Amino acid sequence: MEKLVIEGGRPLQGRIRVHGSKNAALPILAASILALGKHVISNVPNLLDIDVMLSILSALGCRTERHNDHVVIDTSHIKTSHIPEELMGQMRSSIFLMGPLLARFGHVTVTQPGGCAIGERKIDLHLRGLEALGANIRIDGGTIHCSAERLRGADIMLDLPSVGATENILMAAVLAEGRTIIRNAAREPEIEDLQNYLNAMGAKVSGAGTSTITIDGVESLRCCQYAVIPDRIVAGTLMVAAAVTRGDVTLTGVCPEHLAAITHVLRQAGVQIDISDDIMRISCPARTRAIDRIVTQPYPAFPTDMQPQLMVLFSLSYGTSIIKETIFEGRFKHVDELNRMGADIRVDMHSAFVRGVPRLYGATVEATDLRAGAALVIAGLAAVGTTNVEQVHHIDRGYDRIEDMFARLGARIERYASAPAERIIG
Ligand code: EPU
Repeated sequence: MEKLVIEGGRPLQGRIRVHGSKNAALPILAASILALGKHVISNVPNLLDIDVMLSILSALGCRTERHNDHVVIDTSHIKTSHIPEELMGQMRSSIFLMGPLLARFGHVTVTQPGGCAIGERKIDLHLRGLEALGANIRIDGGTIHCSAERLRGADIMLDLPSVGATENILMAAVLAEGRTIIRNAAREPEIEDLQNYLNAMGAKVSGAGTSTITIDGVESLRCCQYAVIPDRIVAGTLMVAAAVTRGDVTLTGVCPEHLAAITHVLRQAGVQIDISDDIMRISCPARTRAIDRIVTQPYPAFPTDMQPQLMVLFSLSYGTSIIKETIFEGRFKHVDELNRMGADIRVDMHSAFVRGVPRLYGATVEATDLRAGAALVIAGLAAVGTTNVEQVHHIDRGYDRIEDMFARLGARIERYASAPAERIIG
């Protein structure tokens, strides 16, 4: 167990490069299974979830090596299409292996995936999509057996634009016979990145980034080299951190188009953002203003993965803001922790009513999930006094040593092993 100790109140200053996208890298690493041989994927962030994905690939028989931000995966010696339960339970993205394993080997056995506790995270759309492609699915207790002699293209309408279901179906369909159309597909940039990787391997996919994706199945795919897109949520987290500390931070290697919804909201709140190619400068000389109502929605609207961080900005803004969370019903766990730091937030059903306060105060708080944890770190950077953020492993799932990232911008933040709980002898 580790914790972060933050001495708040220092404006962040400086220039920093944003690392590669977790949510783009995870399906891309899973998709490497689709082609036999050695893949070289670059701009892969050094994160806990990526380590878990590489462990699963190794357990399947792949050889994996990491050299800085490059990952080499040799898929020539895969010996099983059964994913061990203890690895499956460590993250949600383990489910991404279903589509590729089924497409390449005709069968796959998995158990329910784990992941951040942010609400119910069903996989019905993944399973229905694979069934539509001709897979036979049998659920036996907690184990899902999925098989198909040859997948066949289908016209699939998703009930809702699920990111993971779109990616899983897309990865299965590239080796199916004939044409697949995914309608009401998710439009996130990570899906476009997956399309680009699959096409670099020889797949025929078009339309990612829109709500209709067309896939013409091919007989086989080949290995390739590919660079993952920058992480828009890490960039957004840095943007909010710059704003709440009234700092002046320049981000490099970003894709400003992917950040349009975040930029729009922050500018409305009074944050100054200058953009030039892949560089963004964020500064905030004065206190920010509340915004009536922000609703989290699928891309290109405001992302749920930035909702906790935005709540920190609103906690310190003039006036009352409302944030409605529509994607994950359990994604307000940071509220109690922020209130312990002096915020004034009330939750009613799916909406949080945030009354801005002039300052937050350091406290001992717990990261309950990845983005909640990132929000608490930002709150600590802005707060008066010392903040201890516990359960840092949640944050390590999505940020490559968050303390180094902020320390490079002048923050006082350090990681410590949490003291072991004192044993009480009765
Ligand atoms: N849903 C279903 N059935 C399904 C799939 C999803 O009902 O079969 C529901 C979910 O319960 C949820 C909603 O649809 O309420 C959206 O889920 P989606 O499938 O779009 O999300 P995901 O694929 O599980 C990805 C990201 C999340 C991000 C969401 C939404 C990855 C690895 N994860 O999750 O990222 O919040 O899309 O944008 O890409 C994070 O990085 O912190 C994170 C949680």
